[in-house]
Amino acid sequence: MDSTFPAVVETLPLGLVVVDELGAIHYVNGYLRERLGLAEEGPIGKKLVGFFPGADSCALTEFLERCRDECTPDRVINDDLCSVDIRIMGRSGSSTSLRSAMCFTFDGPNGENFRALVFYESISMEAGNEFQASFSRAIEAVQKARVEQRRLLEKVQQAQRHLVQSEKLAGIGQLAAGVAHEINNPMGYVSSNLRTLAGYVQDLLRIVDAVDAAKDLDEIRNLKRILDYGFIRGDLEDLIAESEEGVERVKSIITALQDFSRTDTGKFSLADLHRGIDTTVNVAANELKYKAEVVKEYGEIPEVECNISRINQVVLNLLMNAAQAMPEWGMITIRTGQAQSEVWFEVEDTGCGMRSDELDKIFEPFFTTKPVGDGTGLGLALSYSIVRQHHGRIEVKSEVGKGTCFRVSLPIIHPMDSDTEEVQF
Ligand SMILES: Nc1ncnc2c1ncn2[C@@H]1O[C@H](COP(=O)(O)OP(=O)(O)OP(=O)(O)O)[C@@H](O)[C@H]1O
Ligand SMILES: [Mg+2]
Repeated sequence: MDSTFPAVVETLPLGLVVVDELGAIHYVNGYLRERLGLAEEGPIGKKLVGFFPGADSCALTEFLERCRDECTPDRVINDDLCSVDIRIMGRSGSSTSLRSAMCFTFDGPNGENFRALVFYESISMEAGNEFQASFSRAIEAVQKARVEQRRLLEKVQQAQRHLVQSEKLAGIGQLAAGVAHEINNPMGYVSSNLRTLAGYVQDLLRIVDAVDAAKDLDEIRNLKRILDYGFIRGDLEDLIAESEEGVERVKSIITALQDFSRTDTGKFSLADLHRGIDTTVNVAANELKYKAEVVKEYGEIPEVECNISRINQVVLNLLMNAAQAMPEWGMITIRTGQAQSEVWFEVEDTGCGMRSDELDKIFEPFFTTKPVGDGTGLGLALSYSIVRQHHGRIEVKSEVGKGTCFRVSLPIIHPMDSDTEEVQF
């Protein structure tokens, strides 16, 4: 709260109380604290209604409701239609009262909807002008602070966009070697099969050509025996089937890569999460296959309104972490399911697990336990912000020596709000 409120608000010669949507106090300025004899943190978190001495609870509730219903970021309520008085200590030590008939709303740094109530003494004309002037100064200062906050937010978002880009590039570099290997392997046996097939075709052509020149069928039968026709026939089918499978494998790797690197428009649309996960597992196949067996336990889930290429990025980060957590060979289980209006997916591994002090830090940017050059410590920080952007949650359970399970929950329908649309990577 102190970063939202500049020093001028703290030292204003009038009282200011900030509450959240539920009426819990988030801030009471210095003037009011001093007059009420409160410690700085004393009122924080308490309900406003019932907190101040001598305040009429009904009037206060009505006042807060009016503030909720009528105030907009540009509209301050300042009339006597509805007001509330509280008892304070006067300068002379006697008890006196402060009145509030003024309130306004504003957004907190994390999108909270705050209400501010301004308390002032019954004032003479002259004091009134002074009051108006200080209030205008305070509003101006708050507005300046908000502009500065927006500027900083824009800078952070820009930095984040760059980070995502460089993380993506690093990820692609890491995967490229694996993908090349994945393609090389089927290409290797397809081309060896083609060579064998070319030899078989030569032999078969010799048999066919012999038909014209042969004096009798025995001569052809003899040639077939010499060339081992029976074996060629059986092997032909196997070689063709194996080659077809190899070509299919290369095709699926290429489709996966295309899916994965599809231009990220930043738009949300209905997507098949299972296809996204399959694609990502395919892309990461080479990183995974020497580390773990991948088991899929897919549930029944509907299409999800999401940015699938970013969700693929999250899945990839979780899979890579799981593979990298395996001391030797292990198992990675990917589960999916639906719970009310959300779908979830889990990536569970039988890897090294994490201590609770590590768990506290894993979503912090640049936190890594991997050797320099192996990990940037950005994978989970970025995954966290992608999931948040989807209004989802990312939860983790881990036990040292046993393994780790990350669960990502996403709303099936993406709630549209200005906040989300602003955050872009
Ligand atoms: N499945 C897991 N099992 C054990 N530790 C994990 C697991 N996932 C993450 N961690 C821990 O969290 C740290 C942060 O993970 P994060 O993905 O953010 O970064 P990184 O993997 O170290 O580097 P990068 O992903 O940028 O290459 C890891 O260094 C590791 O210590
Ligand atoms: Mg990682």
